[in-house]
Amino acid sequence: CGSDTQAALLAVQFGDGHSWSVNFTKNNETYQAEFITFTYNTNDTAVFPDARRQGPVTIVVKDAMHPIQLNNVFVCHHTTSFEAENVTQIFWNVTMQPFVQNGTIGKKESRCRADTPTAAPTVLPTVANVTTASTTISPAPTTAPKPAENPVAGNYSLKAGNKTCLLATVGLQLNISQDKPLLINIDPKTTHADGTCGNTSATLKLNDGNRTLIDFTFIVNASVQKFYLREVNVTLLNHQNGSVILSADNNNFSKWDASLGNSYMCRKEQTLEINEDLQVHTFNLWVQPFLVKENKFSIGKLFYFCANY
Ligand SMILES: *[C@@H]1O[C@H](CO)[C@@H](O)[C@H](O)[C@H]1NC(C)=O
Ligand SMILES: *[C@@H]1O[C@H](CO)[C@@H](O)[C@H](O)[C@H]1NC(C)=O
Ligand SMILES: *[C@@H]1O[C@H](CO)[C@@H](O)[C@H](O)[C@H]1NC(C)=O
Ligand SMILES: *[C@@H]1O[C@H](CO)[C@@H](O)[C@H](O)[C@H]1NC(C)=O
Ligand SMILES: *[C@@H]1O[C@H](CO)[C@@H](O)[C@H](O)[C@H]1NC(C)=O
Ligand SMILES: *[C@@H]1O[C@H](CO)[C@@H](O)[C@H](O)[C@H]1NC(C)=O
Ligand SMILES: *[C@@H]1O[C@H](CO)[C@@H](O)[C@H](O)[C@H]1NC(C)=O
Ligand SMILES: *[C@@H]1O[C@H](CO)[C@@H](O)[C@H](O)[C@H]1NC(C)=O
Ligand SMILES: *[C@@H]1O[C@H](CO)[C@@H](O)[C@H](O)[C@H]1NC(C)=O
Ligand SMILES: *[C@@H]1O[C@H](CO)[C@@H](O)[C@H](O)[C@H]1NC(C)=O
Ligand SMILES: *[C@@H]1O[C@H](CO)[C@@H](O)[C@H](O)[C@H]1NC(C)=O
Ligand SMILES: *[C@@H]1O[C@H](CO)[C@@H](O)[C@H](O)[C@H]1NC(C)=O
Repeated sequence: CGSDTQAALLAVQFGDGHSWSVNFTKNNETYQAEFITFTYNTNDTAVFPDARRQGPVTIVVKDAMHPIQLNNVFVCHHTTSFEAENVTQIFWNVTMQPFVQNGTIGKKESRCRADTPTAAPTVLPTVANVTTASTTISPAPTTAPKPAENPVAGNYSLKAGNKTCLLATVGLQLNISQDKPLLINIDPKTTHADGTCGNTSATLKLNDGNRTLIDFTFIVNASVQKFYLREVNVTLLNHQNGSVILSADNNNFSKWDASLGNSYMCRKEQTLEINEDLQVHTFNLWVQPFLVKENKFSIGKLFYFCANY
């Protein structure tokens, strides 16, 4: 770094061959982040126990941060995240200032848009380039738009006494193919959460207020101190008389696993195959069925989210 140089670099290395860095550029009035570079080493068996390909993978993301006045401190308390090339990067409580002059941190703060109440949420990066060892892979093409709109994610929670014991954020879409294909988006505005928390098992029961019931049951595997989704039960009732139109249950899942005390996140679409007539698509999933502390999702040293395989 240095106030006279035109570029500054902050780099951290951690664990077994992983690193993260951001570089900044400036002009005579402003500075801005340029690229975020993240390298993860799938040789690290503690983090990637089942990696098929072993070695470092590097992701470069162009940061879309707005220019900040020189000598101002950039502050962003809100959580911002983005996904690029199978990696989700999550930032919060960011405070930074490159090109500090005279060794004095700026007195003025520039807040990110997410921190200013009325403004639209920030969109961080724009383009991603991936290099694996020395080869460059161009970004994967975005998937074709789906016929139905993606469902809005709802925030659901359960309490034990006055303490939150289960947290879930998820957008839900049912794909029913009984007679003719039908996609139903669950509306979080009308959906009510109920259920039970426990030490080894927890069930989140969602009722969409429109005759659709979806239950998710999570189980603890004590021997490895992890939890996972075990069972999903979907019931559709007739609008007129409340009789059961469709009842589908699968209690043989072992998905969404993460260590106890942690949460599991998967922002991209996932499919739960309940039976041959029914699929549940999940979007923007973030779930913690056990050991919720202070009404917040936990993000441990190891953060669990979905991979593409
Ligand atoms: C910032 O990092 C990117 C990616 O590593 C690099 O291509 C670029 O030259 C760097 N910019 C400066 C000003 O050093
Ligand atoms: C910054 O540089 C540009 C071009 O070099 C110049 O037009 C502008 O007046 C400068 N601004 C300040 C505040 O010096
Ligand atoms: C990763 O592991 C493989 C085999 O275990 C080894 O050949 C390779 O050199 C390692 N690479 C790094 C960057 O540690
Ligand atoms: C962010 O910082 C504030 C103030 O230092 C702190 O109270 C809060 O817990 C931090 N948030 C997270 C998610 O660490
Ligand atoms: C840094 O020091 C120089 C010389 O004392 C002064 O002109 C300049 O205003 C200072 N800059 C800041 C940001 O305090
Ligand atoms: C990505 O790579 C392409 C081709 O190498 C290059 O033209 C483009 O500028 C790169 N974009 C970023 C954000 O690095
Ligand atoms: C869910 O919670 C998040 C974080 O608190 C918030 O940004 C989002 O707007 C909430 N969504 C709904 C549908 O209330
Ligand atoms: C609810 O929480 C308060 C403190 O936040 C505590 O004093 C009270 O005993 C709790 N009530 C129950 C029923 O757990
Ligand atoms: C819905 O399920 C049917 C039958 O499994 C499948 O063919 C179809 O592709 C699914 N539709 C979507 C949008 O996932
Ligand atoms: C209730 O479900 C029916 C059938 O799926 C649908 O046509 C209707 O729009 C839904 N009503 C509301 C308020 O979501
Ligand atoms: C699924 O949920 C429905 C409605 O709550 C219930 O009647 C049924 O017994 C449940 N099925 C299983 C296998 O748990
Ligand atoms: C992302 O996942 C897909 C599907 O598994 C894979 O083909 C691709 O190589 C992965 N990209 C990176 C950068 O690992």
